[in-house]
Amino acid sequence: MRLTAPETLDTPRLSLRPWTEADADALFAILAANAAHLRPWVPFARDLPRDGAEALARIERYRAQHAEGSALRFAVRHRTSLVGEAMLFVREGGCELGYWIAADHEDRGYATEATRALVEVAFDQGIDAISIRCEAANAASNAVARRLGAHLERDETVPSVRDDTPVPLSCWVLTTAAHRRSGSTRTHA
Ligand SMILES: CC(C)(COP(=O)(O)OP(=O)(O)OC[C@H]1O[C@@H](n2cnc3c(N)ncnc32)[C@H](O)[C@@H]1OP(=O)(O)O)[C@@H](O)C(=O)NCCC(=O)NCCS
Repeated sequence: MRLTAPETLDTPRLSLRPWTEADADALFAILAANAAHLRPWVPFARDLPRDGAEALARIERYRAQHAEGSALRFAVRHRTSLVGEAMLFVREGGCELGYWIAADHEDRGYATEATRALVEVAFDQGIDAISIRCEAANAASNAVARRLGAHLERDETVPSVRDDTPVPLSCWVLTTAAHRRSGSTRTHA
C-alpha cells in the first residue's frame, strides 16, 4: 500500500504540513523541550536529535518516507507555533495512526483535531480501518482514540518504550462508519 496526502491539510484551528528542511531547528527545539513528556510513551523519543543537524537528518528520512508513501508525517501548527506531529504509517494489512502534542499545548483537543484530518485522508483513499496502539496506562492517548470513535479491539502485552518491561497495550480500531459518526473537522484543499 502507498499512502498519499494533500500538501496542505487545515482544520478549524490547526495546519498540518509535511515536514520540510526549514523545520529542523523548530523540531529540535520542541523535542528537546518535551523530552520528559514524550519519553514514557513514544518509541522515537528514546533517541532524540542532539542538535539541529540531527533533526534535519530525521526530517530528510521523514520526507523520503512521505514521498514513497510508507509513512505520512505532518508538522502540526497552531497559527505559527509548532505544537506537535500527526502521523499515518503503512502497516501489514492496513495503516496506523500516531500523534504527539507538546506539553504546553495539551488538553485543547489538538491531537483529536489533527488526527481526524489524517484519518479522513486515509479513508478517502479506500482504507477502511485504521489502528491506534497505545499503552493502557496512557490515559490521554486512549482518550484520543475514543474521541475519534475507535473501538478497543484487543489488549496485547509488549515491552514498554521506557525500559522494555512488559506492559499492557490497548489496540484500537477506527472504521469509516464509526469515524463518520464521531464528526469531521476537515477543511483541507
Ligand atoms: C496523548 C496526547 C497526544 C494527547 O494530546 P492532546 O492534544 O492533549 O489531546 P486532546 O486534547 O485532543 O484529547 C485528550 C483527551 O485526553 C484527555 N486527557 C488528557 N490528559 C489526561 C489524563 N492524564 N488522564 C485522562 N485523560 C486525559 C482529555 O481530557 C481529552 O479527553 P476528553 O476531551 O474526552 O476529556 C498528548 O498528551 C501527548 O503528546 N502525550 C505524549 C505522547 C503520547 O503519548 N503520544 C501518543 C502515543 S500512543
